[in-house]
Amino acid sequence: MAELGHDVVGIDVDQHKVDELQAGRPPFFEPGFGEVLGRAVESGRLRFTTDMSEACDATVHFVAVGTPQTKGSYSADLTYVDAAVDGLLPFLSTGDLVVGKSTVPVGTAARLAELVEGAGSGATLAWNPEFLREGFAVQDTLSPDRFVYGVPSGDAGEAATAVLDEVYATALATGMPRLVTDYATAELVKVSANAFLATKISFINAMAEVAEATGADVTQLADAIGHDARIGRKFLNAGLGFGGGCLPKDIRAFRARGDELGLTDTLSFLGEVDAINLRRRERVVTLTRELLGDLAGRRVGVLGLAFKPNSDDVRDSPALDVVKKLLEAGAEVTAFDPEANGTAKRSFPELTTADNAEDAVRGADAVLVLTEWTEFRELDPERVGVLVAGKKVVDGRNCLDVGAWRAAGFEVRGLGRP
Ligand code: UGA
Repeated sequence: MAELGHDVVGIDVDQHKVDELQAGRPPFFEPGFGEVLGRAVESGRLRFTTDMSEACDATVHFVAVGTPQTKGSYSADLTYVDAAVDGLLPFLSTGDLVVGKSTVPVGTAARLAELVEGAGSGATLAWNPEFLREGFAVQDTLSPDRFVYGVPSGDAGEAATAVLDEVYATALATGMPRLVTDYATAELVKVSANAFLATKISFINAMAEVAEATGADVTQLADAIGHDARIGRKFLNAGLGFGGGCLPKDIRAFRARGDELGLTDTLSFLGEVDAINLRRRERVVTLTRELLGDLAGRRVGVLGLAFKPNSDDVRDSPALDVVKKLLEAGAEVTAFDPEANGTAKRSFPELTTADNAEDAVRGADAVLVLTEWTEFRELDPERVGVLVAGKKVVDGRNCLDVGAWRAAGFEVRGLGRP
């Protein structure tokens, strides 16, 4: 927002995060974000505080807190969204716009709108879902595929639309599509987009299971069907499947909301999407067993811990899940991730990490590539061959040049590939 020229105050309950951000230090790894943050803080257009009363001076209030999976259930935990809106209410004034960015179960915006309007502040609520991908957050924020504004009907909705148009004027000027909808549609656009993406990944991973049973190659299959413009090649990379703080919890929360709406059958396919996804993690462990036999006491070098490259996020990371399963089976695991060693150790202190890929694979009986960082794709198999104890590799992301690794004497296993 500051990069777009607005004066911004960022409010969070976490003093440490606020201090770090105010000092221009990103509290997580995200390519290009440090530069944008530094520029914005230095320009004076962006500052951070834990003091909610600072919202007083603002006219547009974005609510962008998390909606994680509730412990012990599939539904979304709305505690943080509710607390943020509640905390904001005393500081709203006439003409203000509260803009929901968080991913929420359909129906949440209508409930929050009653609160915002009921506070007698004269403020309006809009729902403006976020579609950015980690690893591409800066690019996706400054130049998204589309804007969706969920607004109330009538004059209030028109006024809200005008305010959001002003906020996003720079991007809209380049012809970015913008769709104005009601609250429910805007909320559903977000969850259905993520449900579709998750379904696409699980579809190709189901084809990987079929390929494994028949000797076919799922990567060639994806290339071939992807040429059909109606299907498209994007999000057809078979492998360890989806993780992170969004797709897994969003499809579960969508199902939970479907149950409440009497739509259990309608959304039950998302249970299959989830199950296919989780089976891939087991498959990697099975392939490792195929290569090594009993895993007890065997040394495994793991490359990749983040849920995807260009991120240090290990929330619901398939890679970290595989590491845990290997440890449960008695293997000795040393892992390396270019950015996620620290976050992984914080969430799983028993983990043994190495400072680089070579140290992770040195003396290993098998190497597992679980996140497709460029530096792992570009590893020289001849060099790795000198370091390992056993020339065996599982390509959990179908990202290696299998021919080159086999030529270097490695026994290679991929997902959905012969
Ligand atoms: C996802 C959506 O792509 C964003 O549009 C959305 O805004 C975001 O969730 C969110 O709800 O906040 P993100 O979780 O950052 O973004 O990452 P993705 O690029 O979607 O990847 C998700 C997972 O799917 C990763 O674990 C990735 O490795 C996996 N994936 C992706 C595959 O296994 N195969 C593919 O072909 C693509």
